[in-house]
Amino acid sequence: MCGIVGYVGPQQAAPVLVEGLTRLEYRGYDSAGIAVLNPRSTAHPSRVVRAKGRVRDLEAALPARLAGTVGIGHTRWATHGEPSERNAHPHTSYDGRVHVVHNGIIDNFHALRSRLTADGIELTSDTDTEVVAHLVARELAGGLAFEDAVRAAVAQIDGTYALAVTDVQNPDRVVVARNGSPLLLGVGDGEMFVASDAAAIVRHTSQVVLLDDGDFASVTADGFRTFTADEEQTARAAVTIDLTVEELELGGHAHFMHKEIHEQPESVERMLSGRLDDRFGTAKLDGLNLDPRELRRFSRVKILGCGSAYYVGQLGASMIEDLARVPADAEPASEFRYRNPIIEPSTLYVVVSQSGETADTLFAVREVQRKGGTVVGLVNAVGSSIAREVDGGIYLHAGPEVAVASTKALTHMGVGFALLALALGRVRDLSFADGKRIIAGLRAIPGQIAQILGDEEDLAGAAKELSEAPSLFFIGRVRGYPVAREGAQKFKEITYRHAEAYPTSELKHGPLALISPELPTVAIMPADDLLERNITAAQEIRARGGAVVAITHPGVELGDAATRRIEVPRNEVELDPILLTIPTQLLGYHAAVALGEDVDRPRNLAKSVTVE
Ligand code: AGP
Repeated sequence: MCGIVGYVGPQQAAPVLVEGLTRLEYRGYDSAGIAVLNPRSTAHPSRVVRAKGRVRDLEAALPARLAGTVGIGHTRWATHGEPSERNAHPHTSYDGRVHVVHNGIIDNFHALRSRLTADGIELTSDTDTEVVAHLVARELAGGLAFEDAVRAAVAQIDGTYALAVTDVQNPDRVVVARNGSPLLLGVGDGEMFVASDAAAIVRHTSQVVLLDDGDFASVTADGFRTFTADEEQTARAAVTIDLTVEELELGGHAHFMHKEIHEQPESVERMLSGRLDDRFGTAKLDGLNLDPRELRRFSRVKILGCGSAYYVGQLGASMIEDLARVPADAEPASEFRYRNPIIEPSTLYVVVSQSGETADTLFAVREVQRKGGTVVGLVNAVGSSIAREVDGGIYLHAGPEVAVASTKALTHMGVGFALLALALGRVRDLSFADGKRIIAGLRAIPGQIAQILGDEEDLAGAAKELSEAPSLFFIGRVRGYPVAREGAQKFKEITYRHAEAYPTSELKHGPLALISPELPTVAIMPADDLLERNITAAQEIRARGGAVVAITHPGVELGDAATRRIEVPRNEVELDPILLTIPTQLLGYHAAVALGEDVDRPRNLAKSVTVE
């Protein structure tokens, strides 16, 4: 998962590319590079500048003058070859003619590298991508036109890719290809853009052409031509995207993660508007493309996602079982996809994804559809691959999420599952009164999140203490367990502390052995029918000298079971986990700040995992 950008037009390309890469950095940030074509210079018809590290390191490496109005750029998340200048993109062909940037994985790169080496071509990097540059150059040397050379080269590679290619002998264009990794074109006034994501070009245009798998495009300043492996010309129309530059700015916050945590009251309000049906005590989810009869026919719900999306999926499963009394469970998408799953027509498959581009989840969608199943999506990114491929869905409307550690999108996923559970329940035996109860609970969530955010200072204090521990536990029971899993995930992702989540009941079957004064525990202890059990477990930890930070409700008597308590306002028992998760976001955030870590760009990770 990398970020790709390209430009053809009257402006100097370098600043446009660098700005675009900066906005795409959440997709990978271990090295970066650009190639700029300048047909006026015989000495340097093209210049390539690459650097290890962040886009700002690339910027620092740029020469004062880098002339040229056509170029491509890349910010990397290494898959093949360690992060370094020599493995950074763009890669250049043996004859210096072709430059390539790539997002994806070329599965047959070993064979291609051996073939090229056998033919005497010296390979200068450890990457899979470099082979593409050489293959295109060979096709050009064989006399093919630029577009045909790219098409012929692509025909030799297996795998996933979003590619952008330049040729110094065709200095007025960029040729791109997509298969499995996101890519779009930006239509400007007398200029064109290429990008992995609209965020890179939104300052210049809101007109984008979303490319599909198998698409190629040739882009010049005054337009584009799309084609495929077999067709010379295909029709691809531009759509208008609803994204502003302001949404991609920090807006006075120290980090995007902090900004996104604080956007939640407003963004959840926005997500709920028009979706609560007071007359029938249910949810209005027209985007699902499932009428009540179809909703009723499902006798099981299977939720699929990755990472934090999978953890919220577990929460969604318990909401669906609670409110609709339909058996439901969640599974990591990649595990599901590769275990040759039995797809049942009476099961509703639900994928959940912030980016809508997570490869494992996208392939799970295709696996369900390949076997004739029905799959809907809870997706945040509008126009993303998953959103376009599922049979129906619920857009999360959380707005752009830039920080790698997901916060508001996860809260919106929780709310999305509550809406889905309500709709499934109300076409079954969930009463009107219960429907109204859940609707009132959902309406209370934005205000209650604001209340929790009001205690940020206190939470920051607890986070500072926790940040001093080399490792910690998060525990919770039943509905509290997914909250614990997400809490541990957030802590791990951005503090690099080893945080482990357990069902509270599992402690005494092993993990309790690790409890000591050096290992604190964050315990999810809502005022529900399991409170007594949770208090006993916390006392067992206390008895062994372990500290317990309890996330609980006002009025809950914990006695000596906790060394510190964090209170969240009560809501309906089915919805409480959505609120109980908010403090874990701030604990992770403030612990990372206390440790001086790069909160928005945690090491080794990326926001959208577009490779398997
Ligand atoms: C969450 O903070 C992580 N960034 C990660 O676990 C993420 O949830 C996972 O990669 C799934 O991403 P998606 O929601 O975009 O599909």
